[in-house]
Amino acid sequence: MTAIITIDGPAGAGKSTVARRLADRLGFEFLDTGAMYRAVALAALRRGVDLRDQAALARLAHSVDLRFDQGRLLLDGEDVSEAIRTPEATAATKHAADNAEVRRTLIRFQREAAQGRNIVTEGRDQGTLVFPDAQMKVFLTASAEERARRRCEQLLAAGVAADFDQVLSAQRQRDLEDQSRPFGALTAAPDAFVLSTDGLSVDQVVDRLATQWRQRSAT
Ligand code: DC
Repeated sequence: MTAIITIDGPAGAGKSTVARRLADRLGFEFLDTGAMYRAVALAALRRGVDLRDQAALARLAHSVDLRFDQGRLLLDGEDVSEAIRTPEATAATKHAADNAEVRRTLIRFQREAAQGRNIVTEGRDQGTLVFPDAQMKVFLTASAEERARRRCEQLLAAGVAADFDQVLSAQRQRDLEDQSRPFGALTAAPDAFVLSTDGLSVDQVVDRLATQWRQRSAT
């Protein structure tokens, strides 16, 4: 019997770090679905595919070879784990995420990747749309200010100057896009365990989720 834990939530709530750590703690694999949307956008930029040409982008999503290997994402065999996170790739990702056909292709890929495995999967639509029968669903959130503050810290740590108001306003725009997507919009599944990470360390969040998991799997 395999198990799926989904973690959805807005940008900056700490999903990736928490999902990775929870997966390590439980001995599960980790699936970063945002990385897949980013990879399709990156492939389009590299191949000169018009991001607004929905049919062309859908065909591209169909043709690329995406694979995860020891936490790295391979696009047609090349490790693109860093390349998918540049500001240019991040801005282009919206077109992949808004494209219903791209979403169908990636959802199929996500379900295949989960087959026969214990996984912690992270994204926007994992508990609502992709894995509605997941054994545990988590909706991880945090206040807009806290999320923007963390993002500024990350940027500063990477040596990039960050203006809090600009980061907050870009984040509001992303929240709006995530929430208003006609297919796969960000929302908490009715049966999700909702956790605000405001004022909690990563360790505390992982502890709470691991405790929830133990309680649920014991019943
Ligand atoms: O989590 P992230 O920042 O790497 O996600 C990149 C983009 O992909 C983000 O704008 C939302 C979108 N996304 C999505 O629509 N559905 C998912 N399951 C995961 C991410």
